[in-house]
Amino acid sequence: MIKEIKHPLMEHKLAILRDKNTGTKEFRELAGEIASILCYEAMRDAALDECEIETPMQKMKAKKINEDRYAFIPILRAGMGMTDGIEKLIPNAKIGVIGLYRNEETLKPVKYYYKVPKDIKNRTVILLDPMLATGGSASDAISMLKEDGVKNIKFLCIIAAPEGVKKLEETYPDVEIFCGKIDEKLNENGYILPGLGDAGDRIFGTK
Ligand code: PRP
Ligand code: URA
Repeated sequence: MIKEIKHPLMEHKLAILRDKNTGTKEFRELAGEIASILCYEAMRDAALDECEIETPMQKMKAKKINEDRYAFIPILRAGMGMTDGIEKLIPNAKIGVIGLYRNEETLKPVKYYYKVPKDIKNRTVILLDPMLATGGSASDAISMLKEDGVKNIKFLCIIAAPEGVKKLEETYPDVEIFCGKIDEKLNENGYILPGLGDAGDRIFGTK
């Protein structure tokens, strides 16, 4: 299941993010802000624990999210551009990382790092990557998490290609996808059109 967030703020931020004249600083800030919006939507069904607090006026029963039920996992590198926005919403978030890069010829993901919280199988994992292109990277990351026993996974991306959405929905129908926009298609090099170019390069200022 994919949920495309339809909101004027998302449209506005995406328009600036995609623009080739947007520089590194603004690109990073926007990627974080968009990640916050996606996280807000993905956590709509978060379970709340009752607690008692005291306002300046009186005691009351309130509800809080148990942050220990979640882990946020950016796919390196570009996913790191989304963690800032997550930390702003969930300051105590446990964060793991999965290192993958696409081989530019085969477009197949290559794994180079995997470090997640020890009790990962007891947590809902919110996986972060700005781009869902062929879907290879997201599928590999999801399969690694499933091998570790993770049962609930949500995938947050800024832009998704229909090809990647189809692959994820067919391979992992249980994984909910939240995205800012489903774009038109992939080009012959596996880049999303109209897209925003190479997300990692734009976040890290490497091109
Ligand atoms: C980009 C992007 C995704 C992947 C998407 O990463 O951040 O991880 O490509 O493509 P796919 O759906 O076809 O797998 P890239 O491999 O460029 O690495 P980087 O984040 O280190 O720049
Ligand atoms: N990775 C990117 O960074 N951009 C694309 O358009 C596709 C994959």
